[in-house]
Amino acid sequence: MPSPVVLRGRHSSIFITFANAVPVIAAWGRNVGGHPDSATLASLQSAVPHGGFDAHSAITVLPVHADASGAAPAVEGHRSDGTSWAPRFQMSSIDVRLAQSGTVARSEASLVGTSSQAGVSGTNSGEEGSGDAIEVTLDDTVAQLRIVWRLRIDTFDVVHTSITLRNTGSNPYVVSRCMSTLPISANAREVLDFPGRWTYEMQPQRRPLGFGALLWENRKGRPSHKNAPGLFVGPNGFSENSGEVAGFHLGWSGYHELRVDRLPNGQAYLQAGQALLPGELVLGPGEEHTSPTLFGCWSETGLNGVSQSFHEMLRARTSHPKTVRPVTLNTWEAVYFDHRHERLTALADAAAKVGIERYVLDDGWFLGRRDDKAGLGDWYVDPAVYPQGLGPLIDHVRSLGMEFGIWFEPEMVNPNSNLYREHPEWTLDTDGYEQALSRNQLVLDLSNPDVVEYLFERIDSILSAHNISYVKWDFNRDIVQGSHEGRASMSTQTNALYGLFARLVRAHPNVEFESCSSGGGRADYAILEHTKRVWTSDCNDALDRQSIQRTFSYFFPPEIMGSHIGPKHSHTTGRVHTLGFRGSTAFFGHLGVEADLTQLDQPELDQLANIIGAHKEWRDVLHEGQVIRLDHPDTSAVAHGVVSFDKKRAVFSYAQLATLPATIPTDLRLSGLGQDTEYLVEFLNFSGTNPFGAMKRPPAWVETGVVLSGAYLTQAGLPLPILHPETAMLITLKAR
Ligand code: GLA
Repeated sequence: MPSPVVLRGRHSSIFITFANAVPVIAAWGRNVGGHPDSATLASLQSAVPHGGFDAHSAITVLPVHADASGAAPAVEGHRSDGTSWAPRFQMSSIDVRLAQSGTVARSEASLVGTSSQAGVSGTNSGEEGSGDAIEVTLDDTVAQLRIVWRLRIDTFDVVHTSITLRNTGSNPYVVSRCMSTLPISANAREVLDFPGRWTYEMQPQRRPLGFGALLWENRKGRPSHKNAPGLFVGPNGFSENSGEVAGFHLGWSGYHELRVDRLPNGQAYLQAGQALLPGELVLGPGEEHTSPTLFGCWSETGLNGVSQSFHEMLRARTSHPKTVRPVTLNTWEAVYFDHRHERLTALADAAAKVGIERYVLDDGWFLGRRDDKAGLGDWYVDPAVYPQGLGPLIDHVRSLGMEFGIWFEPEMVNPNSNLYREHPEWTLDTDGYEQALSRNQLVLDLSNPDVVEYLFERIDSILSAHNISYVKWDFNRDIVQGSHEGRASMSTQTNALYGLFARLVRAHPNVEFESCSSGGGRADYAILEHTKRVWTSDCNDALDRQSIQRTFSYFFPPEIMGSHIGPKHSHTTGRVHTLGFRGSTAFFGHLGVEADLTQLDQPELDQLANIIGAHKEWRDVLHEGQVIRLDHPDTSAVAHGVVSFDKKRAVFSYAQLATLPATIPTDLRLSGLGQDTEYLVEFLNFSGTNPFGAMKRPPAWVETGVVLSGAYLTQAGLPLPILHPETAMLITLKAR
């Protein structure tokens, strides 16, 4: 049996032992020394109770039907005659790379008599934020299958794990399940997950982690509004700043399954991977399949600790935006389908005047697209609305010093389109059944190379012909009953999408892509390998955005979070909010405006220019700093902020969501600050409108500013003025 292995991150480590020559994550926690050796481990086996198997069976990284743990099998499948359905793997070779001790590679000879050896390269070298890594090859010589299990803990404490299943036999192997498994602490008693719906994404939901399994099964063809592919577990009452918490996220944009399971013996685990459809994955002899990466992170400083690690991990990726995030104008809620040149140029003029840097032409510019009933698929500029093409509008926008961006929804087609009339066979459906329409549209079959070729050619030609620096890539319906040549094809559909993105990014390296899916329906770490922004929600209502954005920040850093100042009357909720509240809410993301600026009066335009100006002044902190969500005790309010990594500058938001039950708010205790640092604390009143409610006077610092230490702000806090419900105030801190 191999010796135990310790993989170390910055604050956390993973202790791997081996049960029957299969890896077990025996501990995942604080990065300490003193792990027991093999001999000591033998005396630490759990008690064996009556009424069950005669030996304790730990949950391995690869649970199988044959082991006694009772955990769901990571891999399931069978040969055409039904055999080989219950494989059982044994380690053939192991490769460990320890970054801190200067890349020590260790490759052990076969333990089960096969000639296989894990390669000593490739698990880790050159990866972003690379750290300690292990790669274990396991074989089942009876079922003739091989697994390569990989796990890496990067320098930000994020664990990356996946498995590759290979058919080493001479007949096809039908795979129905191929999942990654990570342990959950036996002390965890609560699960925090994020159900939602269109315009109300990622609403936090807590429930007890009792005995039994919780299952999140997504069959929407995108992570979807309902099934955000991530969750947290921790002890009862874990919070933003406290508790031993683990967070998980699956990097996959198709169908998925997440399972949290607590067994009768108290052991618990999380398992995640693609939700494979019947018959969709058949491995021919020698073929293999790799599961999507499951990301995990352990922190003993609550949810903030996990989020900060996730943010740093994403920021270290080469695909992450490295340039200043330009303030955006999106035309959708300003003009919808009313694409008249004069209207669009007037909007551009008004946008440039308030400081907008990127103008994004939304849906409605292509052939026949006068409403949402026609045109998808016909990616040609419509001469009916753009008689001289897009050139005049783009030139106008560029002449005002703004970048130009454009909307596509490439994977979709309206039955009322030339594309559909020419190629009805290109849709993703199942022969013999009528495919359900959603927003009057169908999905294209990306497993068909002709479809991908057509889409590449169309998008490439629009991008090549014009000075376009940004594409808002939309995806506005679920995929159901999608087949390629009669067989389920969600896995190939999703991989073909990644392939198309990769090709377009290679051809147009200076174009940024945004992932939009009726708002935040496709937000995951895999799509972010190709995109630099996520459209968080079609809801621009600042009140709902406070909660949507807060939960979005659990997984994603602010610079990729599209956040727009919408119209005064929210188009999706009908609520009316001040520009101050809308601006304070949108301030913390990749800022944009999505309203008809030509309808605003001068004082409103001036306020908007102030908000944009303040955002530009603070965006280096907002987009590069550490996100801190505060545990504020008043449930009628929420507070959060961003602190620069050198702890010299910070911006916090205090939002009064509902009527304050007490006469005055609880003092706001900040966190994430330098304890010995003296800060000038000021109210950032960019909006000109007073968010304050009825009171004789606010605390004097609101007018004058005040100098306080980080320690005082953390321990005692800041007295707050009384705010009207549905308003917010921003507070800036500058080290002296
Ligand atoms: C989706 C998007 C919106 C907008 C419309 C256009 O709903 O989420 O932002 O682009 O499509 O049809």
